Amino acid sequence: MGHTSDGILVLDFGGQYAHLIARRVRELQVPCELVPYDVPTSRVRQSGARGLILSGGPASVYDDGAPRPSPGIWDLGLPILGICYGHQLIAHALGGAVRPSRKREYGEATLKVRRGSVLLQRVPSRSTVWMSHGDQVAKLPKGFQVYATSDNSTFAVIEDHRRRIFGLQFHPEVTQTEYGREVLSTFVYDVCGCRKSWTLEGFVEAKVREILTLVGEGRALCAVSGGVDSTAAAVLVSKAIGDRLSCLFVNHGLLRKGEAEQVLHTLRDVLGLNVSYVDASERFLAALRGVSDPESKRLIVGAKFAEVFEEFNRAHGPFEWLVQGTLYPDVIESASTNGPAARIKAHHNVAGLPKDLPFKLLEPFKELYKDEVRKVAEQMGVPRDFIVRHPFPGPGLAVRIMGEVTPEKLHVCREAAAIFEEELKRERLYESLWQAFVAVGDDKAVGVVGDERRYGYVVILKAVRSEDGMTASWARLPYDLLDRVSRRITNEISSVSLVCYSVTNKPPSTIEPQ
Ligand code: XMP
Repeated sequence: MGHTSDGILVLDFGGQYAHLIARRVRELQVPCELVPYDVPTSRVRQSGARGLILSGGPASVYDDGAPRPSPGIWDLGLPILGICYGHQLIAHALGGAVRPSRKREYGEATLKVRRGSVLLQRVPSRSTVWMSHGDQVAKLPKGFQVYATSDNSTFAVIEDHRRRIFGLQFHPEVTQTEYGREVLSTFVYDVCGCRKSWTLEGFVEAKVREILTLVGEGRALCAVSGGVDSTAAAVLVSKAIGDRLSCLFVNHGLLRKGEAEQVLHTLRDVLGLNVSYVDASERFLAALRGVSDPESKRLIVGAKFAEVFEEFNRAHGPFEWLVQGTLYPDVIESASTNGPAARIKAHHNVAGLPKDLPFKLLEPFKELYKDEVRKVAEQMGVPRDFIVRHPFPGPGLAVRIMGEVTPEKLHVCREAAAIFEEELKRERLYESLWQAFVAVGDDKAVGVVGDERRYGYVVILKAVRSEDGMTASWARLPYDLLDRVSRRITNEISSVSLVCYSVTNKPPSTIEPQ
């Protein structure tokens, strides 16, 4: 808990919006961290936090084993804001009562302010809030008063003015709550007395100091892919420990056109990182020869990568620390045990690093979101075209080539995607898309070029919009653009005779075809 001094701790009771609370507080430039719901009071004291927020959660306070905070948190003298389950916990723990609602309240509701309150000072007498609860507070604890109601909640906002403990039945952190930002800002600035001290500049400086203290004279290794997360993580760690950070960039022969050169140039010449380059193309492609099953291809790429990585560690190590560009959503996804997110991630991590290497992990971005990492990267001088580049899967073109990976199909896949990207950039559409690429399989189609018959590949253009890659919709690209891309591909790549555009969303498709 290194970054919450003079900020806020959010106790995570498992609610789906818990991480959003932390994000909203940081948008107010106040340091904020999500911590386990039962964080010991001694750690809260040490953190230097000025206030606590108790998140929502799926449990009912009366359930056996319902998550409860350390009993001492009520006596720390810090302001506390309970949201939904956190609100019910306040009532339950301090002598009030909670009951199942007669009607579950889910979705938008009208909040009616009943009397002037510190917390609601910027909220008008009627406003829209977002509710999502089955239980509700039925009796106030001693010292509390009710400040606002909704149709189904008599105790929608409660407050013990003297102890500075507040409960909200609704969710101020979601955008559907009209004055949510005002409620949170009043809590953090006016009630807790926090100041605007959290900035990305401050974040970088604090992280550099923290890494230096942690790593000391030790050595660290970072596998860089050219993606923004691993690149920014490497730049940040190198700011702290300089050349004691070694970066490894493996060319698996499944990269995009010109990618190896571009990545190496940027990492070494522009960013000044200490990068070792291993061209293992031959080895990967040989291992993939004759393999057409999608999962087998992924596993082979993963296993070969682990091999190269271990060889490098043996030859140039030992490294004590491993740097990874893990982001906050990855932490949440791997923490959840049964969501589809966790499953998909495991699948994607096939191309990751071997699990049993004796490293300590450095994950400087584990509290950040993608857009925050992009800002950090920009601030540290990572070039813009690197930052806006579409995500690229670990197993590379092996998952965009259907069937066996052959040099011919790799050529088609690379060249056609380069043309597609170029045209999208010309139309200034590239950055509005989550991904755009070309897939190719073994199907061939008869064509006619001049007076000649051409029996060439069928290629599929894919361009999707997405927030996070979990769902995606196909992009309604202009026909003229598609026409130009199709003409260029068939003119410039003589082994292609038919160009298709994919109009299937995810689900039911996945973004990568393999
Ligand atoms: P799918 O194909 O599952 O992909 O819809 C969702 C997002 O994840 C990327 N992806 C991967 N990323 N290693 C990665 O690092 C992988 O094995 C992998 N497979 C898919 C994909 O590009 C898309 O953005």
